Amino acid sequence: MKIQFVAPQVQKNLIVFFDEKKRLLLPKDWPQELSRQWQAFLGLPEVKAESSSVHNLFHPLVERVFLVGLGKKRDFRELGGMLGKKLVQPDFSNLHLLLPEAPSHPIYNEIEPFLEGLFLGRYRYQGFKTKDNLPDPLSNLTFLAPKTKALAEAASLAWTKALATNQARDLGNLPGNKMRPKDLMAACKAAAKQGGLTFSALNETQMEKEGMGCLLGVAQGSEEPAFLNILEYKAGPKAPTLLLVGKGLTFDSGGISLKPGLGMQEMKHDMCGGAAVLGAMQIIAQLRPKVNVVALIPTTENMPDGKATKPGDVLTACNGTTVEVLNTDAEGRLILADALAYGIKRFKPSAVVDVATLTGACVVALGHYHSGLMCNDEKLYQQVEQAAKRTGDPVWRMPHAEVYDKEIEGTLSDLKNIGSKDGGMITAGMFLKRFVGEVPWAHLDIAGTAWSVERIPYYPTQGATGTVTRLLADLAMNWKK
Ligand code: BES
Ligand code: MN
Ligand code: ZN
Repeated sequence: MKIQFVAPQVQKNLIVFFDEKKRLLLPKDWPQELSRQWQAFLGLPEVKAESSSVHNLFHPLVERVFLVGLGKKRDFRELGGMLGKKLVQPDFSNLHLLLPEAPSHPIYNEIEPFLEGLFLGRYRYQGFKTKDNLPDPLSNLTFLAPKTKALAEAASLAWTKALATNQARDLGNLPGNKMRPKDLMAACKAAAKQGGLTFSALNETQMEKEGMGCLLGVAQGSEEPAFLNILEYKAGPKAPTLLLVGKGLTFDSGGISLKPGLGMQEMKHDMCGGAAVLGAMQIIAQLRPKVNVVALIPTTENMPDGKATKPGDVLTACNGTTVEVLNTDAEGRLILADALAYGIKRFKPSAVVDVATLTGACVVALGHYHSGLMCNDEKLYQQVEQAAKRTGDPVWRMPHAEVYDKEIEGTLSDLKNIGSKDGGMITAGMFLKRFVGEVPWAHLDIAGTAWSVERIPYYPTQGATGTVTRLLADLAMNWKK
């Protein structure tokens, strides 16, 4: 995408702002004829200005103009998202953003979230239709304003973050037969190469040597080989390390504890945690924080098969913990357990954050707006919370409650992989906690937010949302151990 600046002039596909008092924010010598007409439109009683809104007008001179109302609340990312969702015609690949004269106007400080929202809101998944009528990708963004470094940087930052998030969405949206564990591995490898990150992956033989019986126990019902993807961003030998772990289940049928057929296709999204971690690494590679960041993305399918793990089977994780599998559909915690224990032993991180579409219980508890958060460390918790606020990836903390520990105590092994039927998000989190030892750890359950979110204008209402991609990158940029 090309970012350019030209002097204010009449252009097609024009974006113009107005405030909560219906005042248009225009440069000084803007043609009176046009401003009079737009002002007349805003004068209509059906145009409400207190809340954010986007009005799409046609005008023979400018073809299309979007009058964007800031409203009183002024969440610029949401506003950008609302606008982005309206930019559906194929010819909206060139946008012109008209800014008010005074560079002191508060809008100048909000261009980055506004554009991020616009780039995110405009996202459409390409899919596999042989005839499509999707909007062309955005090729030019023109500021009709004097060129400043701040504006150019805001636009390029917004683009970097939105592009990585949109790529994470693409991965999440691919069907299970196009996004197999080996495809996710290839995507990790390609992204690492592009961003200058170190890439490696453990194959099944290497995982066996490491004793990753939980991850392999999930993988053994699949024809597809499993991998543990490792991406490393290195700031320096003395810098502390942040470890990110993302669930990369490319399809979750439930295994022998098979899921019901209705809606099972949604489980192609079960690698969205891994995609978010990968997207965050792409942003990190560009923005270069002062801390080391390691990403682990365990990837496999969960399938029923003659060789598949059966309910009652006992698996041994790479740290020696034994786990009774009482439900093969609680597979996410199994693959994360090995990844967490391995990552902590090998990379000695000062903090670890895992992300997973882990439990239906999280969706029941929190719905589709907040991701569930659990954390064993107050300082890390504050930082995740701040990153969530800054990026607009909403999270809500659930209790880190040791009283649930006995629910996952095994009968013939150390642990079992499910608790009782209630409080399922918490017991899943408490299970993961057994594999992080004393390391500050945060767990993000994105089961309700990873796809089809209605109430966030910069998230798509259908398909993968790329949630927490930007949150994780922001956390890495600002993280203090
Ligand atoms: N991937 C699912 C969780 C999920 C469910 C994500 C719905 C998004 C929407 C996970 O592997 C799973 O199947 N969890 C089980 C755990 C249960 C068997 C303890 C669940 O939540 O039903
Ligand atoms: Mn499952
Ligand atoms: Zn799953």
